[in-house]
Amino acid sequence: MKKACVIGWPIKHSRSPLIHNYWLDKYGLAGGYEKRAVEPGDLGDFLQNLAGNGYVGCNVTVPHKEGAFALADVTHDEAKAVGAANTLWLDEDGRLHADNTDIYGFMNHLTESAPHWQRPDRPVVVLGAGGAARGIVYGLLKSGVGELRLLNRTRQKAEELAAQLKGTGGAIHVPEWQDRDMALKDAGLLVNATSLGMDGSPPLELSLDALPDDAVVADIVYAPLETDLLAAARAKGCRTVDGLGMLLHQAVPGFERWFGVRPEVSDELRALIVADLTG
Ligand code: ATR
Repeated sequence: MKKACVIGWPIKHSRSPLIHNYWLDKYGLAGGYEKRAVEPGDLGDFLQNLAGNGYVGCNVTVPHKEGAFALADVTHDEAKAVGAANTLWLDEDGRLHADNTDIYGFMNHLTESAPHWQRPDRPVVVLGAGGAARGIVYGLLKSGVGELRLLNRTRQKAEELAAQLKGTGGAIHVPEWQDRDMALKDAGLLVNATSLGMDGSPPLELSLDALPDDAVVADIVYAPLETDLLAAARAKGCRTVDGLGMLLHQAVPGFERWFGVRPEVSDELRALIVADLTG
């Protein structure tokens, strides 16, 4: 029986076991997926004993994403691009592979929910320059965005990210965080990749007045499911893309690696996770 797990510290709130066990059950596969709390100092030992503990691979969450990337034997392109991994697997020779499927999760969900998001003449606006924003900016540039406006409270982090990703795709401009309302002018896509608007975090203060009504608005925050940003965008007639879809889609490549079936992100799965989040 194949087994995988998700490791983090803390790990109590991870929804990954619900997602993967739903799929194991749905596809009638003999397997298991569990949570493992791994203290920061124990990551190396844990990964070295992955097979010994009966695992074919694992997901990695905070604070281990960078550590797992550094410890892997083989790192794949998207993990390299962001310097962090969320999905690990062992190959036949026992080598540990690391990839980052958050980018796939975001881009796939975006394209499924709003296929028209990409418009060559319309800039994309991304708010944030943390770990999540890094993957999203990389994914957007790779998929052919011509102009990206990157805004972050700490401007220097946005500038560093822009410098690191220079050459990946189109041009990156870094307006001031306090000019964010005006940065929305003519945009075709707005992405909130900060933690603002999440339960327990400060609100995202942003006026959508300058944003065209036909723009797509995406949020990585999924608690609450409909953030104030998404509600305001919907009220304006904009197409909205929620953060839960990204969470569900990022799980697809790992499941396929470990268990050999490419699973579907269905409405039923979504409803299961929504019930858990809101229950
Ligand atoms: P993650 O890996 O989830 O992206 P992170 O690296 O801590 O987490 O990044 C959090 C993001 O939210 C950053 O862009 C952060 O801005 P700073 O780089 O200036 O810290 C942003 N953020 C968090 N709290 C914020 C606040 N009160 N106002 C503006 N931006 C905030």
